[in-house]
Amino acid sequence: GFSEDKFKIGFSQCTSEDSWRKAMQSEMQNELILFQNMELIITDADDNNEKQIRDIRELVKSGIDLLIVSPNESAPITPIVEEVYRKGIPVIILDRKIDSENYTAQISADNYLIGKEAGKYAVKLLNGEGNIAEIWGLKGSSPAIERHKGFSEIINKYPNIKIIFSETGEWFKQGGTQMMELAIEQHDDINLVFAHNDYMAIGAYEVLQSKFGEHKPFLLGIDGLPGPNDGVDAVIHKKMNATFLYPTGGSEAIELAHRILTKKEFEKNIILKTVVIDSTNAEIQKLQTDQILSLQGKISTAKNILDSQIIKYKSQRMWLIIIVVFLFLL
Ligand code: FRU
Repeated sequence: GFSEDKFKIGFSQCTSEDSWRKAMQSEMQNELILFQNMELIITDADDNNEKQIRDIRELVKSGIDLLIVSPNESAPITPIVEEVYRKGIPVIILDRKIDSENYTAQISADNYLIGKEAGKYAVKLLNGEGNIAEIWGLKGSSPAIERHKGFSEIINKYPNIKIIFSETGEWFKQGGTQMMELAIEQHDDINLVFAHNDYMAIGAYEVLQSKFGEHKPFLLGIDGLPGPNDGVDAVIHKKMNATFLYPTGGSEAIELAHRILTKKEFEKNIILKTVVIDSTNAEIQKLQTDQILSLQGKISTAKNILDSQIIKYKSQRMWLIIIVVFLFLL
């Protein structure tokens, strides 16, 4: 439960199964160490719109002071978010968007821009000519729509490059595998695969590797997470040609929540930076993120040590009081 004097933040997460969402949440927990006057409760909608609507209702009922939400799909989640906002509860939209301006603030990298960058990278790899298979994220979620828009706008400028396959893997690795199988069943002339995230790209890679080995098509993903079996690692091991960093915004969301709750100035739309990660910078990217991860680990260990010292101190103080009261009664 919540303690009385703290701000209560509810975070309605669309799913918390994958490493990107887990990274987001641990960024949040780390940032919270700096803000002792805030508490966070996270709900997991399991990739389900109805569940997310119920979660948000529950959070509001539990008395949250602010809502952070990563909507599973934009349209179905828009009305409930607007309802919360109209009640006067501040709302931060994180990563995936709603179809409305009725929110307090929004944090995300520019997915349209990432799509365009991926498009330009594809053009360069293909040397202006070739066939592309595009594996979409969930069709109703804003990053998928924006990544597709940016990507196809660039590709459409090149008459000799065509997107010949365009289906959704719904953000899942398994979806990437299935769509890749379908794509090569339908086409034998795919030169490049663009997947809307690294999970689907890695799922697609497994199919491509076993079918084509060394002579497989180019492969692009998005997210650029550190850690084994994630995007940066896949680029280092030459499974993917490139990925585009999609920062989670977890720490920024907590910092922003604090600004809003303590009535400080803030920007309504915070756009996080992105960068391409390919063979030219993947190693250095890995070095840096490994360092950050180890620092974060140390910070949370330090926090645990501090907490256990406080508990010890409190129980010592309690015994002291009991002894004093006992002596007094004597
Ligand atoms: C994680 C994820 C990421 C993707 C983002 C889009 O759940 O699928 O891979 O970049 O969500 O919202």
